[in-house]
Amino acid sequence: MKNNGKNSGFVIIVAAISALGGLLFGYDTGVISGAIIFIQKDFALRAVMEELTVSAVLIGAVTGSIFGGTLSDRFGRRRIIILSALIFVLGAAGTALTPNITWLIVGRIVVGIGIGIASFTTPLYISEVSPDRMRGRLVTLNQLAITVGIVVSYLVGYALAASRNWRMMFALAVVPAIILGIGMIFMPESPRWLLSRNQTDKAEAALKKIRVPAQVKKEMQGILESLKEQTGKWSDLFTPTVKPALVVGVGLAVFQQISGINTVIYYAPTILQFAGFKSASAAILATVGVGVVNMIVTVVSMFLLDKSGRRPLLIIGLTGMIISLFILGTAFFIPALSHSYGWLPVVSLMLYVASFAIGLGPVFWLLISEIFPLKIRGLAMSIASDANWGSNLLVALTFLSLIQLVGKGWTFWLYGIITILAVLFSFKLVPETKGRSLEEIESHWREGKQPGKRRQIHE
Ligand code: BGC
Repeated sequence: MKNNGKNSGFVIIVAAISALGGLLFGYDTGVISGAIIFIQKDFALRAVMEELTVSAVLIGAVTGSIFGGTLSDRFGRRRIIILSALIFVLGAAGTALTPNITWLIVGRIVVGIGIGIASFTTPLYISEVSPDRMRGRLVTLNQLAITVGIVVSYLVGYALAASRNWRMMFALAVVPAIILGIGMIFMPESPRWLLSRNQTDKAEAALKKIRVPAQVKKEMQGILESLKEQTGKWSDLFTPTVKPALVVGVGLAVFQQISGINTVIYYAPTILQFAGFKSASAAILATVGVGVVNMIVTVVSMFLLDKSGRRPLLIIGLTGMIISLFILGTAFFIPALSHSYGWLPVVSLMLYVASFAIGLGPVFWLLISEIFPLKIRGLAMSIASDANWGSNLLVALTFLSLIQLVGKGWTFWLYGIITILAVLFSFKLVPETKGRSLEEIESHWREGKQPGKRRQIHE
């Protein structure tokens, strides 16, 4: 099943344009860490207001991801990505021009709504337009864009710190948002979604743009066959066919966050200062290093996902996270350790982020774009994304208090224990989806196969 160069090339462009949604996700979640110091001073914020300003984006994302699902099933993937671009522009402009803190918080909630919608409609759209053999790579372009967005936000924060220009930090997000919105106008709608709405001619035309002619009829037939088995009702979510997929999606969503990744992404300089880094600028520099490791290892994962499969990378990555979390925790328990081996916390943080980037980071977003039936894919993905954003918010709000309550060592050990549960969960329940068509994956659940017993989907 070879694609000719032309069509593969176009599908890569389609994926890259929509992955700007991921770039905005990363940039807009990361940018607050550089901006908050100046916002806090300019508006003389008290602690509660400062926390609210930081977490507003997550509150927005929880809201956006829950509404986005039904919308993308109803109005199409492309239109909803365009809607998210519009929301990003509004939010970025609003936060950059805000007269007071209330409007700033409202603006950040709006940005968050954009992030919540884009976070899953982007992988959803890419997954539905990709050829099976390169779906892992193309969907992970979105995760790569998230990591690039995070690094760019750190660098912009650093570059604009001297001029204290936090408004510009927010305003810059307008640029990729406009490119995303305009770019998507010229992209084809997902042929799978079009077929699910009985728009056969349009689906065929869309598919012709992204596949070689010989493949079009066959792929359409497969999708139509699979659609016959689906009703598209909410209640489908709880049928024996869809429930196991929902358990996998929501389970991975929660584990992706409560294993602590964003304590590092949002608080790396703080963690490094805990670990004995005296100078703030060295801690910030090490943070950029963490971001770069995250980015580079995501590229490695991109190239491996379609070769070695999703499960091995997930399980290896989780194991690396467990090891590094226990080393980091131990370094805090035995201060002598981090004194004589000052590099230990930094190396374990890097190992932790690298392990996340090879497995749980990309695999979660990829799997939820693959394992649900077409007619309720948007809805089911939005439930999993919502669980992800809700858990993200929970960790962001509890991390510093947890450290005060049980200490640094136990906090990281706790994340380590949670990750042990994640590895057991993945080993038992997560199916292998490499190289299978989305319809084959659906029929796997329909046949009632227990992924734990038969992990390789549909030989
Ligand atoms: C997660 C984000 C995280 C990012 C880090 C994503 O997969 O959902 O919460 O900040 O990876 O690269």
